[in-house]
Amino acid sequence: MDKKIKPHNHIHDALQLDGRPDTMIEYYKKWSETYDKDVTDNYFGIAYIAELLHKHVSENQQDHIANMEQINIVDVGCGTGLAGKHIHQLGYRSIDGIDLSPEMIQKAEESGVYRNLISGIDIHQPIQDNLYKAYDAAVCVGVFTMGHIHPESLYQLAALTTSGGIMVISTRVPYYKETNFQAVSDQMQEEGLLTLKSHYMNAPYRDDGDAHYWVYEVLS
Ligand SMILES: C[S@@+](CC[C@H](N)C(=O)[O-])C[C@H]1O[C@@H](n2cnc3c(N)ncnc32)[C@H](O)[C@@H]1O
Repeated sequence: MDKKIKPHNHIHDALQLDGRPDTMIEYYKKWSETYDKDVTDNYFGIAYIAELLHKHVSENQQDHIANMEQINIVDVGCGTGLAGKHIHQLGYRSIDGIDLSPEMIQKAEESGVYRNLISGIDIHQPIQDNLYKAYDAAVCVGVFTMGHIHPESLYQLAALTTSGGIMVISTRVPYYKETNFQAVSDQMQEEGLLTLKSHYMNAPYRDDGDAHYWVYEVLS
């Protein structure tokens, strides 16, 4: 029998993965061809997070409009570049994307909105020296989700972001409920690494479920 997977099952199956790098690489290798078609119809999170990034970066940076093109942004787990396209549309031009999957990064290259793209980066692992504290802002959507990355990866996002920079992250609601994300966020604040500037609970993400969005300022 033909076991061709229906689009919505790709999304469902992705949430059941085990988060291991080799599993991720294999899964997204297969999904990269149809990912955009499968998710874009009702994926509100990408535009929502781009707007949040814009709002908070502009509040955070003096002469924001004049400097917009120079603000260094990293899209963590950028996939095919769906969020990057929205960020680019808002006027940002120094957007880098990092992801584990070479095939997803290949698609992101085709989008033409990123300055640099790097595949093979596992956000569970310490950040490589040339990316350490290299960014004014980090954005991460659709990655702190079931079957994907651990809440402790928040440490690596902070390692990418310069002191005084902004991080904007989505967590799907079930992920927030079922993981220690809140504890990691609290711990990092106690350690003086970051401060929570705003959060948006049960905000638009996809038509099959909302997400919480977290905006942090990195302190050190
Ligand atoms: C559901 S897709 C989201 C892609 C994009 N951010 C979006 O919203 O369309 C999840 C992405 O996370 C990447 N990913 C999964 N585990 C990762 C890890 N440990 N480190 C870096 N990227 C990872 C996958 O390769 C995939 O591109």
